[in-house]
Amino acid sequence: MITGKFPKLRLRRLRKDENIRKMVRENHLSVNDLIYPLFIVEGENVKEEIKSMPGQYRYSIDKVIEEVKEVKELGIPAIILFGIPEKKDDIGSDSFSDDGIIQRSIKAIKESVPEMYVITDVCFCEYTSHGHCGYLKCSEKSCDVDNDRTLELLKKQVVSHAKAGADMVAPSGMMDGMIKAIRKGLDKADFTEIPIMSYAAKYTSAYYGPFRDAAESTPSFGDRRSYQMDPANVNEALREVALDIEEGADIVMVKPALSYMDVIKAVKETFKYPTAAYNVSGEYSMIKAAAMNDWIDEKRVVIETLLSMKRAGADIILTYFAKDVAKWIG
Ligand code: PBG
Ligand code: ZN
Repeated sequence: MITGKFPKLRLRRLRKDENIRKMVRENHLSVNDLIYPLFIVEGENVKEEIKSMPGQYRYSIDKVIEEVKEVKELGIPAIILFGIPEKKDDIGSDSFSDDGIIQRSIKAIKESVPEMYVITDVCFCEYTSHGHCGYLKCSEKSCDVDNDRTLELLKKQVVSHAKAGADMVAPSGMMDGMIKAIRKGLDKADFTEIPIMSYAAKYTSAYYGPFRDAAESTPSFGDRRSYQMDPANVNEALREVALDIEEGADIVMVKPALSYMDVIKAVKETFKYPTAAYNVSGEYSMIKAAAMNDWIDEKRVVIETLLSMKRAGADIILTYFAKDVAKWIG
């Protein structure tokens, strides 16, 4: 492509003026790309700040409605909901109860802000007393998540979300066969139009630390290595994504985002599918902490970071910065 025949080539010419910089800009960050995560707890009039995530809160249902109205006014098209029930048990039954925290939240939000696109995180770790992402089977020596039993419970969970009015479901538990089971469950209950955003390539990551604080979902023993991916692998991510697409995923996600830009790029280039990146809690908190110390320019760092995810190939970004970005680039 480059022949070296044009010694007068000056790339800087197109950088001199904002008008021309805008015209040759290759990637854009827009509010339309953003999904805002929200944490919902039991109670009334609750808006408590999450210590490890300054500027992020746990809301009771009445309070989250005010927040969703604000999110809508800022032009953010979608939210993703995480429910934190008061009572947890070993199978996470609140997660599929028609009267569960998340089901009541969806109904209340859809009633007051019907135009908001409501996505639900589908998993068990916030709902189980042991904090693992599925049904646990224990032998005398050890416990592990029972993949196939979890699939049955996942079907119940997504159908209850859809019945409550969810627009899209986002399973995050990394169970094998999870997309197929969920698609089947939804279709059988006549929710054939509800799309699935799969957390297809989800790594075992220390970047989830602040989230686990927020959602009280730290496993009470062990870790999630037996179902989440090894941070050393990228080909495996492509296999995970391929399977999920074959099973019926409409959107595939890479999570975390910042340390996995190569994975985002590989997924986008290989499958050319709608691709989401989760700018996770640890990525948020690192920037926040530095900004609060005046060590970095928060606005510029956030926009640069999210833009780099777009450049890597993300169409959609789940981010706790969504409201800030909407205000900045509105
Ligand atoms: C699990 C879930 C997690 C996140 C989203 N869904 C945590 C985990 O797998 O431990 C992490 C999000 C974040 O760190 O911002 N249902
Ligand atoms: Zn989980």
